[in-house]
Amino acid sequence: MSLLLNSSFTGASSACLLQRERSRRRRLHVPGVTCRQGSNGDRSDAARQQQSPPLLDRRDMLLGLGGLYGVTAGPKVLAAPIMPPDLSKCYPATAPALDNKCCPPYDPGETISEYSFPATPLRVRRPAHIVKDDQEYMDKYKEAVRRMKNLPADHPWNYYQQANIHCQYCNYAYHQQNTDDVPIQVHFSWIFLPWHRYYLHFYERILGKLIDDDTFTIPFWNWDTKDGMTFPAIFQDAASPLYDPKRDQRHVKDGKILDLKYAYTENTASDSEIIRENLCFIQKTFKHSLSLAELFMGDPVRAGEKEIQEANGQMEVIHNAAHMWVGEPDGYKENMGDFSTAARDSVFFCHHCNVDRMWDIYRNLRGNRVEFEDNDWLDSTFLFHDENEQLVKVKMSDCLNPTKLRYTFEQVPLPWLGKINCQKTAETKSKATTELSLTRVNEFGTTAQALDASNPLRVIVARPKKNRKKKEKQEKVEVIQIKDIQVTTNETARFDVYVAVPYGDLAGPDYGEFAGSYVRLAHRMKGSDGTAEQVPKKKGKLKLGITPLLEDIDAEDADKLVVTLVLRTGSVTVGGVSINLLQTDSTAAI
Ligand code: C2O
Repeated sequence: MSLLLNSSFTGASSACLLQRERSRRRRLHVPGVTCRQGSNGDRSDAARQQQSPPLLDRRDMLLGLGGLYGVTAGPKVLAAPIMPPDLSKCYPATAPALDNKCCPPYDPGETISEYSFPATPLRVRRPAHIVKDDQEYMDKYKEAVRRMKNLPADHPWNYYQQANIHCQYCNYAYHQQNTDDVPIQVHFSWIFLPWHRYYLHFYERILGKLIDDDTFTIPFWNWDTKDGMTFPAIFQDAASPLYDPKRDQRHVKDGKILDLKYAYTENTASDSEIIRENLCFIQKTFKHSLSLAELFMGDPVRAGEKEIQEANGQMEVIHNAAHMWVGEPDGYKENMGDFSTAARDSVFFCHHCNVDRMWDIYRNLRGNRVEFEDNDWLDSTFLFHDENEQLVKVKMSDCLNPTKLRYTFEQVPLPWLGKINCQKTAETKSKATTELSLTRVNEFGTTAQALDASNPLRVIVARPKKNRKKKEKQEKVEVIQIKDIQVTTNETARFDVYVAVPYGDLAGPDYGEFAGSYVRLAHRMKGSDGTAEQVPKKKGKLKLGITPLLEDIDAEDADKLVVTLVLRTGSVTVGGVSINLLQTDSTAAI
């Protein structure tokens, strides 16, 4: 007897829900979505070539530019997809909470096979706050996790071995093959969503196998809707295998509302206000990044690249807040608040199930087009232990459509797609601002500036072009770029970005419209002696799409904008703020 499958779920993808939303809201434009099962974009290479113009392979391009790199001592760019590590070489992780130990047992005789994708009926992932009342399902879920915890400690399916996978690929236990010491890092880039999709998929399949249920799915923490915005109750029973004591107890009980802008200080606004803020943040994230995948998913990272700036997309930024909010507020922020330990809490997978769902919705909104027509993304390859205890390799291009992995999500309302009042326009547009309240704001200049929590950094930034026509906007998206972001401690860092229209070169007291955030989780680093801590050296960058935002605040005719960076936690310097026009890859809009 199938526990979860219900024909009303399986027939349609979430795209259909979006279409329904579309007819409710006329402004929503969902290109090319067909409501047939399995229709959301089969990404075989042939299909890929058919549907979109062939792009110049970056390797060919670099070959063409070969002379350039040949004569100068320029950076050595391998321009190739990230490949799996040599498993025989696992280094101590930068994970003091785990005593720097998260390497798995290594079996030199183990061979790597191709993954046989499941041939199950479409499995339906359901919201955590709904499955709570499904006793039969909950018994199975708990039993599966119990069995996972009871496996021998060195079994690749063992609960803590599974959790260690996250530590290995986040805390620098593996280096890329054929590089001196370039670690594999699955955050801060375009790898974030696909790698976590596979990680979650195998975890789910293993749990299903442990209870011999091919229909088993992990529930999603439906934090994008009011009823799902509290910590999921199913993880709170201290007697359950789903329980984890290492959480911020103030947040996980008593119906406290999750704060997607959390920065280790309590939001004192009313519940309904926090809910509205969260929905607006999600809405803006989609609205501002639909026209260019890297704004949502993160920037490219290619094999051998060592010095590139970390650039996560806004979906990763949003997701970080839940990590911080669930983990302990002090110490190593265990378990959820630190990458090395995050997956030791079962809620990690429930949270990532929703992150994965957000990507699926993003994809559907963009007519299921491939996010990056770039072989360095599509051919990136990862290793996992599958549900048959095989060590398998899987390619990025094979996970873009969840149907291939045989799962889908139960359709639930998307309140953030609806009409919400998210603008502060009353204040920003107010003509009542008196001259007395205006202050002079300078350009950023050329020297890096430290952010100061009590005195937000406000800079005036020239726009490349004003009064752009609709067609120009469809071709290029206007983007605020903040470069050389340096987090100067191992603690969490967060700053929020606001945009307003200046009065000449003067700024009003209001910061204007929220555009997005930069967040870096606490991330312990080890020093060259392998033990003492050192601060991160890698810099980051942040890109925020603002084309729709400028329309919302009626700023299309402004030459310049005031950009305000509000430090919320941590210690950060930034190297520059600019506004640029970037080529779009989709005309989708909400
Ligand atoms: Cu790998 Cu939610 O992080």
